[in-house]
Amino acid sequence: MPVAELKTTTLKQFVSGRWVEGRGDREILSLNPADTNEIIAVFKGADRQDALAALDAAERAWPAWKKTPAPKRGRIVQRALEIARSRVDELARLLTREEGKILGEARGEVDKGMNLMEWYAGEGMRLMGQTAPSELPSNFLYTVREPLGVVSIITPWNFPWAIPCWKIAPALVGGNAVIFKPASLVPAMAVELVKIFEEAGLPPGVLNLVLGSGSSVGDALVRDPRIRAVSFTGSNEIGSGVHKTAGERGIKVTCEMGGKNPCIIWDDADLNLALGGVVKGAFGSTGQRCTATSRLVLHEKIASRFKEMVLAEAKKIKLGNGLDPEVGMGPLVDSRQLETVMNYIEIGKKEGARLLLGGGKPQGAAYQNGYFVEPTVFGGVISSMRIFQEEIFGPVLTLTTVKTFEEAVATANGVRFGLTSAVYTQDLTLAMRFVEDLQVGMVHVNSPTIGGEAQMPFGGIKASGVGEREMAKEGINFFTEPKTVFLDYTGVRRESNVY
Ligand code: UN1
Repeated sequence: MPVAELKTTTLKQFVSGRWVEGRGDREILSLNPADTNEIIAVFKGADRQDALAALDAAERAWPAWKKTPAPKRGRIVQRALEIARSRVDELARLLTREEGKILGEARGEVDKGMNLMEWYAGEGMRLMGQTAPSELPSNFLYTVREPLGVVSIITPWNFPWAIPCWKIAPALVGGNAVIFKPASLVPAMAVELVKIFEEAGLPPGVLNLVLGSGSSVGDALVRDPRIRAVSFTGSNEIGSGVHKTAGERGIKVTCEMGGKNPCIIWDDADLNLALGGVVKGAFGSTGQRCTATSRLVLHEKIASRFKEMVLAEAKKIKLGNGLDPEVGMGPLVDSRQLETVMNYIEIGKKEGARLLLGGGKPQGAAYQNGYFVEPTVFGGVISSMRIFQEEIFGPVLTLTTVKTFEEAVATANGVRFGLTSAVYTQDLTLAMRFVEDLQVGMVHVNSPTIGGEAQMPFGGIKASGVGEREMAKEGINFFTEPKTVFLDYTGVRRESNVY
């Protein structure tokens, strides 16, 4: 490991363009989940006063930022993208050390965040309104898109770079002032992102970073009357509270929450192709992805063969520190996550599901200081089981066998979530029937449930999300409001110009 990576960094809050120490009394550590002896960073958590200072700063900065032409706002994001691009390897290594995902995945995440910046930098030039013909002569009807004001961006630990990029970039290009509160497990990545925006020339107060626990600052960042919108990604538990409070206040809110994503493998599927997608979808990022494949729905004709293929492939995954190129799966992010996953494994066994693979913590010196759990597969899972219904957020895959199209659809849809899904078949007609009937926000045909692209909307239905979709046009629509203008240039009094 390079020497520079061994030292612990002390982190600060970023308020009004200055790096300041948090006023909370708790010192928070960011640990490497693969080896908790490695302390990545330490910081004094923010308290309510810090959140309020950030709000003051954002409120002061907003009017000038709102008046900054959108193409110019986009160019600052473009500059941030260029800085990030020059530091990709370093950012990916930090991401692996702080969050635990393997380096290849971290690199993919850094790229994804940069794609989002690229898309939204261009939106600075495409913040278009509409025109429409009026019912009246000599009347010009048009819309402009205007920023909302001060907005809160609350992000999870599992994508500490990409998710902040996909929310912050459209918020800024849309002309808003931002309070950014990342999960306190991943503060070092958040600081790097904010530093990049600072270096790119963002005026003081336009982007403020509040590092601390949700319990100390979260409330102010949703309830304060100056907050005009909240963009949240995280658990259903927190998200529904955010949604409720924002709803009571009548402000815009988008909450991207859990998933329990099915992957359907039909009897005509290319099983090798499907195998790659399933292993990546279920065990990639150690299953800590709202888009992870957590339920396999197998056609009875290939169920037994495909099950053996999955078990053989999953057995080969080497666990360990994600910086090691041989390693295929990193640790879970912290002890709480490990406890949750282990708990669900016990629940699965008690419910009568068959534990086909894994289910334990790997043994050996290499694992003792990290939050490792084996890739785990349960067979004979039925829809009444909790391991079928609830989001586990770990490398746990359930197998359910079906006989008919209708049964496959009912199995796939039979949970409260509706984020994403995958279907493996070579029959286009069948694929399109699944596309039509799956109750989800995203469907992948012959590719894994995970991922998304900057230029297409991302998000789910049912308990997976509320509010506007993210990414693409939808992402910037969320952070702006149309203003409709009725411009009558006749200069002549009419009896009525109201319809
Ligand atoms: C992806 O699958 O690349 O929290 C993105 C999550 C999602 C992002 C997934 N919001 O896992």
